Amino acid sequence: MLPAAKLRIEELSVEERAIYATLKPERLPQHVAIIMDGNGRWAGHRSLKRFIGHQQGASTVQLVMETAARIGLPWLTLYAFSLENNLRRPRAEVSFLMRLLKTYLDANVQRMLDNNVRLRYIGHTGELPDDVQEKMRWAEQATAANTGTTLTLALNYGSRSELVDAFRSLAVEMKQKHINPEHISEEDIHRHLYTAGMPDPDLLIRTSGEMRLSNFLLWQIAYTEIFVTDRLWPDFTGIHLLQAIADYQQRERRYGGLSDNVGEVEENADQIKIVAN
Ligand code: FPP
Repeated sequence: MLPAAKLRIEELSVEERAIYATLKPERLPQHVAIIMDGNGRWAGHRSLKRFIGHQQGASTVQLVMETAARIGLPWLTLYAFSLENNLRRPRAEVSFLMRLLKTYLDANVQRMLDNNVRLRYIGHTGELPDDVQEKMRWAEQATAANTGTTLTLALNYGSRSELVDAFRSLAVEMKQKHINPEHISEEDIHRHLYTAGMPDPDLLIRTSGEMRLSNFLLWQIAYTEIFVTDRLWPDFTGIHLLQAIADYQQRERRYGGLSDNVGEVEENADQIKIVAN
């Protein structure tokens, strides 16, 4: 959680405040990651073109970002455009998404500044069109000094390709510093990921009900709590973000250990006879 002085709870809507009141502020997740899915279905249910669903989805990004900033969520990471989207969607849709990203940045950097949000990106962004990259750099630089929520947009992102990039750059470092492979640690891999310096997500939300990870942050979500909602992304709001956090706070995170209430722990386990089945 960000310092209390930076919280803006009074700016939440009445409904949001009612849910926030049920939360334990000291147990807020540090990092929420979201797979934003269902723009196309949202449009289809209304007999609208898929493009309209994406446009509505971009407005949702702003609403959710604002709620995150108001409650002092330090890290919010959104899967906006995958490598697979880039390769497998019709060119017209990809080029619409690129134009939408530019328009979104133009229209919302001021709102990010008002919310003290710092914007950054992960993914193969160097392969996006030049004009899009230029707009992205402008928005990143404009918000770089902000100290509230860090909003990370995953753009042209794929987790396996992130891991390949990480292993390649780690291999270069090992060669330069003559490091023995036996000395490679998990921390070394973390340092070479696009997310170096960020905490792993505590909570991963996926909208539109699909039970898939879709090549998103595979290394980073080893111990992340997963929340899947049937709600389609354009219908998701700050209220639903807070509901997901409330659900997360009911979970017991064990990181492979034991909970307090799982029966007696045997002190002399090495003396128990094991029956072969
Ligand atoms: C999935 O919906 C969503 C995407 C492929 C892209 C996410 C994009 C946005 C939320 C809008 C743009 C974002 C920014 C930051 C400007 P889908 O098309 O896969 O939906 P479907 O599964 O129902 O077809």
